[in-house]
Amino acid sequence: MSKKNAIITGVAGVLPDYILTNEELSRMVDTSDEWIMTRIGIKTRHILKEPGKGSSDLGAEAVRRLLEKTNTNPDEIDMVLCATVTPDHQFPATASIISDKVGIKHAFHFDLNAGCSGFLYGLSTATAYIESGRAKKIVLVGAEKMSSITDYTDRATCPIFGDGSGAVLIEPSDDETLGVIDIIMQSDGVGRHHLHQKAGGSVWPSSAETVANREHFIYQEGQPVFKWAVSKMADTAVEIMERNNLTSDNINWLVPHQANNRIIEATAQRMNLPKEKVMINIQRYGNTTAATLPLCLMDYENQLRKGDNIILATFGAGFTWGAIYLKWAYDGK
Ligand code: UT7
Repeated sequence: MSKKNAIITGVAGVLPDYILTNEELSRMVDTSDEWIMTRIGIKTRHILKEPGKGSSDLGAEAVRRLLEKTNTNPDEIDMVLCATVTPDHQFPATASIISDKVGIKHAFHFDLNAGCSGFLYGLSTATAYIESGRAKKIVLVGAEKMSSITDYTDRATCPIFGDGSGAVLIEPSDDETLGVIDIIMQSDGVGRHHLHQKAGGSVWPSSAETVANREHFIYQEGQPVFKWAVSKMADTAVEIMERNNLTSDNINWLVPHQANNRIIEATAQRMNLPKEKVMINIQRYGNTTAATLPLCLMDYENQLRKGDNIILATFGAGFTWGAIYLKWAYDGK
């Protein structure tokens, strides 16, 4: 049996309609467009406002668009992987809810939580299933309603996050020169203290007290997270470049997690990449956690060409981080 490579054969995504601007935020908390633009680089983020709608509604729409665009029958999908930190419920998996909503009946599904690295961890997992021959058509979807855990009275976190979903189709290819070529995935649980949600899990189940203490929102110590993110994202991106003999000349694109423009710039600088080779949409969407990477691929799909050398790099809660080197498998329209 010849070796199969995992290739991305389509990408799609969705952003909710409502746009939360820096101007509106500065009426909610003591902040300004100038502070947010210089310290983070975000102008707007999309927010899912409709009551009773959750991450699965965004995820299902992204997957519907993906199946339509790639002309794929839901019956052909044999695995659905949803990366999220904002599942609809503690259980069942949001992947199961998405599958039900789009009519995927012959797949196994599960969620994956690796913070902002969820999509990259998902791509690594999907690659293992494809390479082993255990799955043939995988939907990997990053879906987040970050607004559901964002404290809009906390100026240190509320400008950062946005809602959205992006999905990719992953399939096997006999062409060993295409698809996922190399993977570096790393974690250090010591970082969990700096970025987490305190209550709502089994340690501190929801109670009137946890709600009163605002413990269901994102807790983030920005500076340590920033320092780790800058060093780890850049370290792994450079490591994967070097061990695959890539240089700034033969890399076509860096697809970085969109947490802070300064982190993205620092990573690109360490890789010696000009900004023309860096996918950036943080200014419009903010940090959509597990959805940032597929939303970048969606926005830049038209510019991608078969054989392009792409480095995806990320850092998130856990801490988790990593980089994937892949060769894009088709010409964007
Ligand atoms: O995606 C998962 C991983 N997450 C990340 O990668 C996030 C990493 N961290 C960061 O991006 C940055 O640390 C933040 C954007 C969260 C914060 O930026 P910073 O440059 O580290 O600011 P800081 O926390 O050191 O705060 C500097 C000052 C403080 O005031 P004082 O104490 O110097 O008077 C804050 O109170 O800025 C103040 N501040 C604000 N001022 C205006 C904090 N938030 C705001 C705000 N508007 N929204």
